[in-house]
This record gives sequence, structure tokens and C-alpha cells, in this order.
Amino acid sequence: MSNIIPIASDHAGFELKSKLVPYLEEKGYKIKDMGCYSSESVDYPDFIHPLAKEINEGVFPFGFIMCGTGNGVSMVANKYPNVRCALCWNKEISSLAKQHNNANIIALPARFISFEDAKEIIDSYLNNKFEGDRHQRRINKIPIK
Ligand code: RB5
Repeated sequence: MSNIIPIASDHAGFELKSKLVPYLEEKGYKIKDMGCYSSESVDYPDFIHPLAKEINEGVFPFGFIMCGTGNGVSMVANKYPNVRCALCWNKEISSLAKQHNNANIIALPARFISFEDAKEIIDSYLNNKFEGDRHQRRINKIPIK
């Protein structure tokens, strides 16, 4: 599995994505920027489906997505059976998204958090570990049989 981090947004998340890409690159991560590429209005599913499909197929272990609220992008991503996308608006939520949910996509509400918030959210996701055990049992029960 690739160690590249895919990242995608719509126009509402574009500015935040533009700041997060160099932030992550400076930390040593390789990034696949899957768009969008300007603040011109676009439809978030057009950019999130390609990223979520690759997470679903195991091409990348995890990714970051953002739109105005984080809700639209989460809804798209969570259509994929192997995706567990968590909408995170603070670092405690993103720590738990890794520790308890083993989230493989983090969705950020770009219009409701600062860049400082976003960095904390992403760092705490990256710096935490899935706890397994009872949380794995619960994750196993998520798919519709
Ligand atoms: C775009 O205006 C906005 O609807 C979108 O970024 C997102 O918040 C949708 O859920």
C-alpha cells in the first residue's frame, strides 16, 4: 500500500487544502492532490468519489477531504464499504476517530475551523493509534449484511 496521502476538496475547502498540502509536505509526507484546483464553484462528489474509491480499494491507507461543512464530502466517502470517514472539528474528535473508529478518511469543515484547528486535527489523527479489541468488534458490525 502506498505511503502517499491523497487530499481533496471542493471550492469551499480549496483554501484550506492549499495550506494543508505544504504543511504536510514540510512534515515529510508525500501528497496526491486530487483537486479541486481553484475557488471556482464545483460539485464536491466529482472530487471525493475518485479519492474514496482509491481508499476503498486499498490504494492508499488514509486521506483527508474538506468542504464547507464537511458533511457533503463525508456523505460521499461513506458510500464506499471499506471507507470509514469521520467528520472532525477538533483534535479530540480526530484522536478518537483513529483510536476508536480506525477512520481512514478525515473530513474537515473548512468554513467552521481555522488553519490552526485543521493542523491540530490532522496531527492528532496522524499521531494516534487504533486501539483494536472492542473497537474492532464494533467496526466489524458496521457493514450492512
Ligand atoms: C458549498 O457551498 C457547500 O455546500 C459545500 O462545500 C459543503 O458544505 C456541502 O456539504
